[in-house]
Amino acid sequence: MGNVVDEFITRVYDVVRTNPSGEVADYIPELAAVAPDGFGIAVATGDGHVYEVGDTSVPFTIQSISKPFTYALALADHGVDAVAEKIDVEPSGEPFNEISLDPDTERPRNPMINAGAITAASLVQGANPAEQFERIRALYSRCAGRNLGLDEAVYRSEARTGHRNRAIGYMLRSFGVITDDPDDAVDVYFRQCSIEVTCRDLALMAATLANNGVNPSTRDRVLNPALVERVLSVMTTCGMYDAAGEWVTEVGMPAKSGVGGGVLAVLPGQLGIAVYSPRLDRHGNSVRGVQACRELSRDLELHFL
Ligand code: DON
Repeated sequence: MGNVVDEFITRVYDVVRTNPSGEVADYIPELAAVAPDGFGIAVATGDGHVYEVGDTSVPFTIQSISKPFTYALALADHGVDAVAEKIDVEPSGEPFNEISLDPDTERPRNPMINAGAITAASLVQGANPAEQFERIRALYSRCAGRNLGLDEAVYRSEARTGHRNRAIGYMLRSFGVITDDPDDAVDVYFRQCSIEVTCRDLALMAATLANNGVNPSTRDRVLNPALVERVLSVMTTCGMYDAAGEWVTEVGMPAKSGVGGGVLAVLPGQLGIAVYSPRLDRHGNSVRGVQACRELSRDLELHFL
């Protein structure tokens, strides 16, 4: 198996590396400061081994790949039913930062768009926002198997420019979806998006989801299997935003992208996959990340849906 995985990821890396398309995110000034051509692929197996090629130890911010993990923490803190009263699980077909709620339910449509993610952040238990954030950081760290930190510069940049997310926070507060100070919820969300990871970290985080919530490297039981199942379902239908339909058709794995250039994909029971490449398509998904996952899915016959 080892040589096969090495061979495949190297082949996919060589093919996909030649794709120069896409643009680095620049709507948060600090995000524009990355090397646009960075590219890495990491695959973590059920025994905790990580196969790597390219820029797999370059740090970047997790951005929206944080959303499934904070959603998992909200589910662990409150249970599936209580969280479902606040956040639906329907694909929105809308861009990630749409300022909208489902008109019938007056809830965010899912936890992968910002409205649902900010709600999930608000639901994380803690006496104050600092404690909520610390619990979030601790959970991501256990999934990655090492202590993750915050990229202060990206956090400050996002906090300075994130007016649209503040608008979403106030909308949520006015509809009673958030019951506390919306600025606090949005600040926790900005911080979670600014947690720094590498491609290798994301592969282990994906493998923790693939392995029913147990980190395959540290053997730490981080999440309960029933919650992981729900998180993976939502990632399948909503993880790639308005491109989710195409993703399920072509790749078929639960996945999540972030504007920092990461893509995380999960083959349940088997593998965690991560790709890093900061050039994005118009949906905000990494161009080479999507392409690499499509190639890996085809080569390793991962397509199971
Ligand atoms: O603007 C935001 O909400 C970001 N900090 C996170 C967005 C993100 O990663 C969207 N995904 N592709």
